[in-house]
Amino acid sequence: MTSEIGQSINVGLMGLGTVGGGVADALLEHAADIKRKTGRTVCLRRALVRDIARPRTPELPAGALTANPEDILADPDVHIVVEVMGGDSPAGEYLERALAAGKHVVTANKEVMSRRGPALLELAQSQHVNLLFEASAGGGIPIVGCLMSQLLANEIRSIRSIINGTTNYILTRMARQQTPFADALAEAQARGYAEADPTNDIDGIDAAYKLSVLGGLAFHRPIPHGAIYTEGISRLAPEDFRYAAELGYAIKSLAIATAEPGGAVRARVHPALVSEDHLLAKVEGVYNAVEVTGDLCGQIILHGQGAGRDATTSAVMGDLLNIVRGIDNAEGPPPLPFSNGPAEGTQFAVQPIDELSSAYYMRLTCADQAGVLAQIARILGEGNISIATVIQKDTDPGSGTAQLVITTYPSREANVQTALAAVAQLGVVISVNNLIRIEE
Ligand code: NAP
Ligand code: HSE
Repeated sequence: MTSEIGQSINVGLMGLGTVGGGVADALLEHAADIKRKTGRTVCLRRALVRDIARPRTPELPAGALTANPEDILADPDVHIVVEVMGGDSPAGEYLERALAAGKHVVTANKEVMSRRGPALLELAQSQHVNLLFEASAGGGIPIVGCLMSQLLANEIRSIRSIINGTTNYILTRMARQQTPFADALAEAQARGYAEADPTNDIDGIDAAYKLSVLGGLAFHRPIPHGAIYTEGISRLAPEDFRYAAELGYAIKSLAIATAEPGGAVRARVHPALVSEDHLLAKVEGVYNAVEVTGDLCGQIILHGQGAGRDATTSAVMGDLLNIVRGIDNAEGPPPLPFSNGPAEGTQFAVQPIDELSSAYYMRLTCADQAGVLAQIARILGEGNISIATVIQKDTDPGSGTAQLVITTYPSREANVQTALAAVAQLGVVISVNNLIRIEE
């Protein structure tokens, strides 16, 4: 059990990397400011790492660094655990143990909150401690707190967001400076934006974890990340950005969750063409943005840095200081954010991507000869897919090929996938290079 709390609150920090370094720095360098804002002295008692021999910035007081999680979990004088290690295991088990021991918890871990959030929140409530997770989605943007409090009166209709800083950084560099994919990724890693395994960023998995967290808060039910349709950015080529720009669009990786008829929710992460006039199209570099549409608030967009040491430290420290400010509150934490809405007890209904109605951009490499377009148009027509525009680009007399860029009016996803598979079989079609949804 956690000891009686005196004037001083002790923090056990799990992880001292990009984010943990920022949190340690804030605790050590801004102690006086923290005391002024909370009325308490907040001490960094222990910091957990894998390798204690490695030099660290900031340098911690002697004995504070440990590679043994028991030094935090079994220490009754650690009142608040801040987990910034990442990954589902062992972080998830550590959080469970911390909560079971009566410690408050702050985490930046979207994977743990997506996989175990509802169970951990229930445990926190039964233990009368807080579990806060602002940094788990949107980096420095206060979207988690916003959904949990200020927007709670709303029936949320949709969330449309850019919630992965690494992919937005890569897409911006590819679109603006024609930076090769690998170079842009290396830059994002060097800046501390990327996950330990950047595949999670590139393949949309990180965004799916975050959408699962935000969707859970918005729609008041767990949204398993496995139920989220997820598509990464690796198929995007420089010519897609060029052609999209000519058509008046930017290409962004969007994470979207929408309330559907009959109480269902559809959730998806994929690249999308976004009109250059829309605010989401203007979100550049490591910045994230979350557009929330509610019945009362209408449309709101929050914009800010979605990754990086300082922005994430802002979110983690905000949670930490809020816990410190209310640590004497005998009433315990507020109701569970995942389950206190109108859909309590109802089953999560997954709307498959097949039933999505969307406009599409398709890019094909075709033989440059008469009648090609007619053959493609016939197949699309048979699938009830109405063509909006066709442009022929980059004709290559040497190979006798050209790029065909087709956009459609809103059509059913399943029809488009079936038609495109048939188009790919045509003798005059060399390759179907890309299919990107257009988000109107
Ligand atoms: P990071 O730089 O890789 O740091 C991870 C830290 O955790 C390191 O200090 C590492 O120890 C320690 N650690 C990892 N596994 C451990 C284990 N099994 N036992 C003991 N220590 C362990 O990661 P990060 O970028 O700070 O991210 C941390 C968390 O914040 C993740 O959940 C991430 O998704 C989330 N987040 C990150 C950002 C961002 O911009 N980076 C933004 C929002 C949220 P060593 O130093 O010894 O290797
Ligand atoms: N890898 C994540 C990103 C860190 O790039 O957005 C912030 O969660």
